Amino acid sequence: MKQTVLVSGGAGYIGSHTAVELIGAGYDVVIVDNLSNSDMSGVEGVEKITGKHVTFVEADCCDKEAFRRVFEQYEFDSVIHFAASKAVGESVAEPLKYYRNNLTSFVNVVELMHEFGRRNIVFSSSATVYGEADSLPVTEQSPRKPATSPYGNTKQICEDILRDSVAAYGSLRGIALRYFNPIGAHPSALIGELPRGVPNNLVPFITQTAAGVRECLSIFGDDYPTADGSCIRDYIDIVDLARAHVAAIDRMVKGQSKQPYEIFNIGTGRGVSVFELVTTFERVNGLKLNYKVAPRRAGDVVAIWADTTLANRELGWHAERSVEDTLRAAWAWEKHVRGIE
Ligand code: UD1
Repeated sequence: MKQTVLVSGGAGYIGSHTAVELIGAGYDVVIVDNLSNSDMSGVEGVEKITGKHVTFVEADCCDKEAFRRVFEQYEFDSVIHFAASKAVGESVAEPLKYYRNNLTSFVNVVELMHEFGRRNIVFSSSATVYGEADSLPVTEQSPRKPATSPYGNTKQICEDILRDSVAAYGSLRGIALRYFNPIGAHPSALIGELPRGVPNNLVPFITQTAAGVRECLSIFGDDYPTADGSCIRDYIDIVDLARAHVAAIDRMVKGQSKQPYEIFNIGTGRGVSVFELVTTFERVNGLKLNYKVAPRRAGDVVAIWADTTLANRELGWHAERSVEDTLRAAWAWEKHVRGIE
């Protein structure tokens, strides 16, 4: 029988790409989203790409009664919980919004899974939990560092909620995926990242600058202790990242988990500097980007990239796309959004 996966936040950037890969792997999906930071174009894109109707419920995971109705109405054994607020700066300005949204929705989903006897959950965690790491690359055993933002703190707290709930409730299994820096878009250019307002993240700022929506990209700092002075991150293609979720769900559905609660780094294993990313974007897309060096951004870590040995071995998952392909896809998506030929 076909398995169904509940995808909370499935209209958003990572959720919509994951829905496509789940459907491609033979799962049915039910998307629950309150559209607070997304719109129906994400769901429509999933339908266009897959040629399948997608069940969509507009509901807020913080609204427990509305969320309960989803559990009552649909049969599913697995959940991928994306629904969360994710802007670091905003979380510093409005911490309570982040604690309410991110923690309430997660407690609700785990409680409802326990109540309804649903078994498998994947949680969207982040490399932010490692902070400024003592040694690189980071493994899942690298220590978590005190969070530098309420957003980062919610990721750590939710990991702990999952660990403790899985330990207490025998029927529950969980996997936390620690994402490095997700970038790019589906190769069809039918779904991608749609930031509202001024983008906080690097790649949407690059593509919007190339499209003429932003005048100039600021590179935050060229005096870091790295080869070219800019920060280093592990940029993971969004489709590769989406496939990691399918691998995590497969693992739990097939009963292959080695522990009831597991953590995996999801990155490429390669660090790329901001300057390298910008020049690669220019090269593969044949354009020049207007950029300038600006002061460091508060809270940025100097460098981080993943050791992905565990995910490669246990999930049988590897990042496959090159950063060149990913940056081509990111630009194709921006052109699609802006109607640029
Ligand atoms: C940030 C968050 C991380 C979160 C992720 C969500 C911090 C410290 N980390 O990651 O917790 O999970 O977003 O996507 O905020 N940059 C520029 N110019 C720009 C934008 C960014 O030079 O206009 C640089 C940054 O200084 C950084 C790199 O690009 O070195 C990547 O930045 P960004 O895309 O915001 O991701 P992170 O900060 O790594």
